[in-house]
Amino acid sequence: MITRDTIICRCEDITYGEILDAIEMGVTSLNEMKRFLRAGMGPCQGRTCGRLIQQIIVQKTGIKPEEVEPMTHRPPLKAIPIKVLAGEKHES
Ligand code: FES
Repeated sequence: MITRDTIICRCEDITYGEILDAIEMGVTSLNEMKRFLRAGMGPCQGRTCGRLIQQIIVQKTGIKPEEVEPMTHRPPLKAIPIKVLAGEKHES
């Protein structure tokens, strides 16, 4: 059962109640949720919580799922060798 204390964004410890409060204040897109609560700004970049937050916005506002503005994706968080980006094969 989901309660106000249920964690929705595990990376940033954002609860269901915090998301509900943000929606109540007018937040209706995933990017706004990122800026307002940092939900979706953790190491997984919203891959875990993004769809959940989208569903909550849809349920609470009545906006159609395709009308909820998606999250802007960022480059990888951890450092990777430039040769990986250049397409060189890995040595194993
Ligand atoms: S669970 Fe929300 S950013 Fe990772």
